[in-house]
Amino acid sequence: MKIIRSKQELQIEIEAIKRSGKTVGFVPTMGALHDGHKALVSRAVAENDLSIVSVFVNPTQFNNAADLEKYPRDLKADADMLESVGCNLIFAPTSDEVYDKEELNSRFEFDFGGLDTVMEGRFRPGHFNGVVQIVSKLFQLVQPTKAYFGEKDFQQLAIIHRMVKLLKMDVEIVDCPIVRESSGLALSSRNQRLTPEQHKNAIEISKVLFESRNFAAQLAPKELSEWVVDKINSTEGLEVEYFDIADAHTLQTIDTWCNEAVGCVAVFCGEVRLIDNIRYNL
Ligand code: PAF
Repeated sequence: MKIIRSKQELQIEIEAIKRSGKTVGFVPTMGALHDGHKALVSRAVAENDLSIVSVFVNPTQFNNAADLEKYPRDLKADADMLESVGCNLIFAPTSDEVYDKEELNSRFEFDFGGLDTVMEGRFRPGHFNGVVQIVSKLFQLVQPTKAYFGEKDFQQLAIIHRMVKLLKMDVEIVDCPIVRESSGLALSSRNQRLTPEQHKNAIEISKVLFESRNFAAQLAPKELSEWVVDKINSTEGLEVEYFDIADAHTLQTIDTWCNEAVGCVAVFCGEVRLIDNIRYNL
């Protein structure tokens, strides 16, 4: 497995791969890899001739300097894990390699068609501008055949699909299911920052989401949302930032149930902000 840090080196590799006609499965990550990433990479390895993983903590998608600073980084551990699942190449650039000064100091603009004004976008202004900025750059550099994203970041996935369509990018986006601990807690790099006590509290988030499915037939989306928020907030140490039940395609909040609804939540567990979601297929 190769670890490449410069764009030029990557370009040489990609040109050789393209000449050989091999397919490339790509998993963009910010490192601090866990079994959720492992599932994405294993799928990329199984479905393509070659697999490439980027490890880059993208500064332009953080709207909180402390969150960026505290984001866990351990390239050695990430590389060991990626090698064990058969990844062929890691692209781990520095920020200077990826961005020039001007890009770092101005907001990347994109037509989100309203997908960015709800949920994460409402509470993390500019976050998705940074995500589209980096993912579009990485797609141009890596030129993958398929790219793999987890459904835990449900809104991100919807935005990536829109980006690929709007920019007419020649890549297939593969949606991959959320990977959970046996307790139900959705795997996240941020879980590393939870104390044992916070971890115990955080398990309540997915428990409540799963339980809410039992009431979906009796309650309107707004009533169910209130139930979820009250129930999560009643757990010591948890505070809901938002819970929205939305149309899974438009991400707009729904008043009456539609065929494919999704409930997306962000919860503060102490200082650690966790997200999760659940599908309601009525
Ligand atoms: O989901 C993530 O880890 C990041 O948002 C991504 C897609 C790697 C872009 O930095």
